[in-house]
Amino acid sequence: MSSALSWYIIIGTVVSMLACFWLVVWTNRQRASTEEIKESESHVWDENVRELNNPLPMWWLWLFVMTLIWGGGYLLFYPGLGAFGGLGSWTQENQYNQEVMAAEAKYGPIFAAFGATPVEQLAGDSAALDIGKSLFANYCVQCHGSAGLGARGFPNLTDGDWLYGGDPATIEQSILQGRSGVMPPLAAVFSDDAAIDEMVRYVQNMADGMDSASSAHGKYMTLCIACHGADGNGLQALGAPSLIDDIWLYGSSAAEIRKSIVEGRNGVMPAHGNLIGPDRARILAAYVYNLSH
Ligand code: HEC
Ligand code: HEC
Repeated sequence: MSSALSWYIIIGTVVSMLACFWLVVWTNRQRASTEEIKESESHVWDENVRELNNPLPMWWLWLFVMTLIWGGGYLLFYPGLGAFGGLGSWTQENQYNQEVMAAEAKYGPIFAAFGATPVEQLAGDSAALDIGKSLFANYCVQCHGSAGLGARGFPNLTDGDWLYGGDPATIEQSILQGRSGVMPPLAAVFSDDAAIDEMVRYVQNMADGMDSASSAHGKYMTLCIACHGADGNGLQALGAPSLIDDIWLYGSSAAEIRKSIVEGRNGVMPAHGNLIGPDRARILAAYVYNLSH
C-alpha cells in the first residue's frame, strides 16, 4: 500500500470516528425548548407519542460510546488503519503458522507412529483409516471423488485395476512422487482417416483377441506394442492402461478412443510428497490400499 493511500485511510477513519464521538456528545446536550414542547401538542401520534429533539436514552448512547471505544482499541491492536500493523503485531501468517505448529505438536507424534507402520498393517487399523479418510477428503477428492471412484481422466482407486500398480509401495510412490501418463499423439503415423478408424475398431475389438486380419494389426504391433503390450494388457511401468479390460480412463466410445490416438493423453497425478510429508502419505497409501481390498 502506498503511504499516501495509507494516510488517506488513517485520516479518513480517525476523523470519522472523532466526528461520531462529537455527534454522540452533541446530541446528548440537546434538550427540547419550551417552545418546541408547546408546538408538539399539535402533533401527537398513537395517543401519547410526541416528536421532540431530546437526546437518546443513556443506555443507547453508551452503546455508541462503547462501540467507538472498541473500534479504537481494535484499530490500535490489529491491522486496519492504513499500513499501520497494530500494536499486537497480529498477521494472518503468524496466526496460521501458530495453528499449524499447534496441530503438528498434537498430531505429529500420532502421524509419526503411523508413518513407521507398514501399509498392510495400517490398512487394518481403524484409527489410521479414519485419519486417512479425512486426509483423502482434504487432498484427493477434487480429482478422485469423495469415495475414490474417480471420473473421466481420473482413475478409480477402488476397482483393483491399476495404471501403475496396487501394491503398497507403488501406491505410496504414486502419492509421494506423482505420476504422468504419456500417451503420445499419433495422428501423423496414419496415412488417412480411414486408417485411424480401422485402428479404433481394432482397439474396440481387442478384448476378443488380436485380429491379425485387420489392416491395423501391423501398426499396433510396431507402434503401440511397446507400451500397451502384445496382448493389449498395458504396461504398469509406464502407466499404459490395458486396452482389453472394460475399464476406460477416457472412454470406450469410438470418438474417445480416436481422440486418445490422434491427440494423445497426458494424465497428471501431482506429487504430494512435499505438500503432505511421508507420514501422511503412508496413512493415505493405507487408506487407498484398503479401498481396493
Ligand atoms: C489434480 C488431480 C489429482 C489429485 C489432487 C490427486 N490425484 Fe491421484 N491421480 C490423478 C490422475 C490424473 C492420475 C492418473 C495419472 C495418469 O493418468 O497416469 C492419478 C493417479 C493416482 C494413483 C495411481 C492409480 C493407479 O491406477 O495406479 C494413486 C494411487 C493416486 N492417484 C492417489 C491419490 C491420492 C491418495 C491423492 C491425495 C493425496 C491424489 N491421488 C490426489 C489426479 C489427482
Ligand atoms: C509411449 C507409450 C505409448 C504408446 C507408444 C502408445 N500409448 Fe496409448 N497410452 C499410453 C499411456 C501412458 C496412456 C495413458 C495416458 C494417461 O494416463 O493419461 C495411453 C492411453 C491410451 C488410450 C486410452 C485408454 C483409456 O483407458 O481411455 C488408448 C485408446 C490408447 N492409449 C491407444 C493406443 C494406441 C492404439 C496406440 C498405438 C497406435 C498407443 N496407444 C500407443 C502410452 C502409449
